[in-house]
This record gives sequence, structure tokens and C-alpha cells, in this order.
Amino acid sequence: MRIVLCILLAYLIGSISTSTLLTRWLARIDIRDHGSGNAGATNTLRVLGVKWGLFVLVVDALKGVVAVEIARIATGGHLWPMYLAGLAAIVGHNWPVFFGFRGGKGIATTIGVYLMLFPIPVVLAGIVALILILVTRFVSLGALILVILTPILCGLLGHHWGAVVFTAIVAILSIYRHQENIVRLVQGKEHRIFSKRI
Ligand code: G3P
Repeated sequence: MRIVLCILLAYLIGSISTSTLLTRWLARIDIRDHGSGNAGATNTLRVLGVKWGLFVLVVDALKGVVAVEIARIATGGHLWPMYLAGLAAIVGHNWPVFFGFRGGKGIATTIGVYLMLFPIPVVLAGIVALILILVTRFVSLGALILVILTPILCGLLGHHWGAVVFTAIVAILSIYRHQENIVRLVQGKEHRIFSKRI
């Protein structure tokens, strides 16, 4: 029962769409009608600037941190409840019950979940992703590299097989959410950050 409650709570926490709330509040717009249409940190950066983009990144990551921490406290630190709560927070972010199930792509929340569960793999993958983003200005490319590298690094660094399975599931979910970005990347039409063309 506790596990079910943790998963439900994690989904509700994930469903608090920071970028949607912030853009409604600050600019009286819906982020989902602007830029790439995604309710996430990258699109907030495009629409409201770097400061608010970073703010959304941190708050959306914190949703993942809080969801995993609640599960850790409530279930005595067992791994699978924490994995399931983390996944529920990511699903909530992507399909938020409070915002018509139109949310983001889950990367910031995934980073929060991973920092709690697999800090070394995600920091290493994050460094590679950040370099790619700085060089190409494609956040989606960096995000995809981060989620694909993390299960590989979990495996190489000797994490439990469950960690590899969990991060692989999250990677598949992230790739699914980035389908349009992948098509644009392949066609050379992906949106760059700090570009006039949205
Ligand atoms: O995490 C979202 C990012 O990878 C892509 O965002 O707005 O360019 O589709 P966006």
C-alpha cells in the first residue's frame, strides 16, 4: 500500500508543470503554444530567457529528487519503490494530470531522479551532454545522449542489473518523447538554443 501511495504522490508531484505555471504567471501565455511547444526548461529558456530556463530546470529536477526521497523514507530505502516513484514523477511531468496531460519530455526530472540514485553515471553522462549542447546548441541531442549513456555507464560501473533495466526503460521513454526532435535532427531542422529561428 505504501508503495502505491508513493507512486501516486510521485506522479502528482511530477504533474506540477513548472514551465506552464511560470509562463502563465510571468507572461500570461501558455508555453505549450510557443517555441517548440514543449513544457520544459529548454523551451522556457527560448521564451523567457536563460534565468527562467535554469529556474525551470532546477525545479523540475527537484520534483524527481523529492519523489525518490519520499519513496526512500517511506519504504526503507528499497530500490524498486524508488525506481517506480522516479518513473512516476517523470511520467507525471510528461503527461501531467493538472494540465490536460500535455507536459514536457522529462529530462530535467530524470536528472533529479538519477542524481538521487546513480550520481556518478549521470554526472559523467551530463558532462558529455553539456559539451555536446555547448558545441551544437541542440539541447535535444545532449538530452538523448545523457539518457542513452546513463544505462551504459551504470552497467560499466557495476551497478545492480535493476539499475541498468530501469535507466534503459527511462531512455526508451525519453526517445519516444523526443521523436519529433530526432526527425528534425536527422533532417537538419532541429531548433538550436540562442537562435532567432524557433
Ligand atoms: O528536454 C527537452 C529538450 O531535450 C528538447 O526541448 O523544446 O527543444 O523540444 P525542445
